[in-house]
Parts: sequence; C-alpha cells; structure tokens
Amino acid sequence: MTRTEVTANGRARRLVDGNEIPLLGLGVWQVDDGRECEDAVRWALEAGYRHIDTAQAYGNEASVGKALRDSGVPRENVFITTKFFPGHKDPEAEAQRSLERLGVEYVDLYIIHWPQGGPTWAWDGMQRAQERGYARSIGVSNFSVAELDELLAVADTQPAVNQVQFSPFEFRRGLLDACEQRGVAIEAYSPLGTGRHLEDAAVGELAERHGRTPAQVLIRWAVQRGLIVLPKSTHRTRIEQNGQVFDFTLSDDDVAALDALDRTGNTERALERKWW
Ligand code: A2P
Repeated sequence: MTRTEVTANGRARRLVDGNEIPLLGLGVWQVDDGRECEDAVRWALEAGYRHIDTAQAYGNEASVGKALRDSGVPRENVFITTKFFPGHKDPEAEAQRSLERLGVEYVDLYIIHWPQGGPTWAWDGMQRAQERGYARSIGVSNFSVAELDELLAVADTQPAVNQVQFSPFEFRRGLLDACEQRGVAIEAYSPLGTGRHLEDAAVGELAERHGRTPAQVLIRWAVQRGLIVLPKSTHRTRIEQNGQVFDFTLSDDDVAALDALDRTGNTERALERKWW
C-alpha cells in the first residue's frame, strides 16, 4: 500500500480489505467514562470528525455510543474502532460485549490492543468476530515488524492496520515502510506525544510560519504522510482546531524537517518499552 491509496479528497484511505477509513479520528484514551467522554465525542462529531477510536481497556465505550446517538449523526456515517483487551481470552465474545456497551450492531474496526501472550493466539477469534459481522475490518496495535510477520504467516485474513505511537519524534520509518509493503495501514496514536511535542521549538516555528497551532502542524504532518491520525483532547476548542487540518499544506521541506525530529532511529519496533 502507498500514499496513493489515500482517497481523492485527501481525507480517507482505502484499507487492504476495501473498506474506507477517515484519516482523522478522535482518540479517547484516558478520557473518563461519563460526561467528559460524551462531551468530547459529541463535540468532535459536531466539528465534522467521522471517526472515533476507543478500546475495551479505556472503559468508555458506553459513553462513545451514547454521544453517537445523541449527536444525531447516522451510525453508518461514523467509523468506530474498538480494541480487544488481550487480558481476556475470547476476542469474539468480547466483541459482542463491546457492541452491547456501544449500542451498535457492528464496529468498523476491531484491533488487538497489544501482543500480550504473543502475536498470533488471538487472531482466530478476531477473524471469527469479523466473519460474524461484529467488525468490518480487523487489525492490530503495538506490533513490531517481527510480530506482524509471525501473524501474517498464519493469518487467513491479514490485519488491515497497525496502530502505534507515531509522530515526527517517533517516526518509526522501518515499521512504516514494512507495513506499507505488507498492505498494513499505520494508525498514529499519541500524535502530539500526549502533549509533550507541542512545546518543541522546531514545531513551534513551523506553526508560526503557517499561522497554525503546533498541534495542527503535527496532525497535518501525519495526514500528508497518509497516516491515520488519532489526536486526543477533551476541550472543545482544541477538538475543533485539531480537526482543521485539511485547509493548509506543509511543503516538502517542512515535512522533511519534521521527519528529522525522529528519536527512534527509524525503528521497526512499535514501542521503546513494552508495558506488558
Ligand atoms: P486535553 O485533553 O486537556 O485537551 P495525544 O493526542 O498525543 O495523546 O495528546 C493529547 C494531549 O495533548 C492531551 O493532554 C490534550 O489535552 C493535549 N492537546 C490536544 N490537543 C491540543 C491542542 N490543540 N493544544 C494543546 N494541547 C492539546
């Protein structure tokens, strides 16, 4: 897969299974279930986001579902991702529980949250969840190239995405190139470095030059690289701003300057440190 598979309007990408995914999504990691999460999701939908990324481990699927219903945006117009918590045993049964909490009949994307216990054991259950119609697309998260290759060797249906920590500062070029070669789209979580990268002087200088915010520059970089990007915020103005990244363009030099901020040594790994 290459960046040429970004759709004509530059806002979505076709996955290897043929499904289309909006490049920009709201991430709701560390967003409290209840009012905080409902507000963030509703504001995002009002601001034009059509992609929400949650997980069983986040404990806020019910709020995501409630906000979706309250927004009045038709279910089929919103791309919803949830993630299998690999501390549990059965991805198919857990998918059903996610659907109940979300109050939807399917999710658009269901991914293994991290390769706990190895990269292959959960995949049968993921494929069953897809076959039963619980998930349109299936994928993984926090998988290195070596882990992806182990999975690809045994998978009937290949993973459509690999969601990893990705930003100019975590520009995992070895992982990105290998994923592209294998038809696996990268989804960038923590694209703002959970806020840390917003203080960087080089990012700030670029933002000033474009009359944009540092967050917009980092999100736009990901979009121009054809990545699916999942910034998180619980503030309405920030959610709105972070969504306004389709009306300006970084030059090739700007993109190269951001690429050069990488601190991972262009790694093929998904993480600097495993947490499981
Ligand atoms: P908050 O949720 O209070 O708005 P990441 O997407 O890399 O995980 O980063 C999320 C962090 O960055 C959160 O702490 C969020 O704070 C903050 N953040 C998100 N968007 C912006 C923005 N436009 N300006 C400043 N901080 C932001």
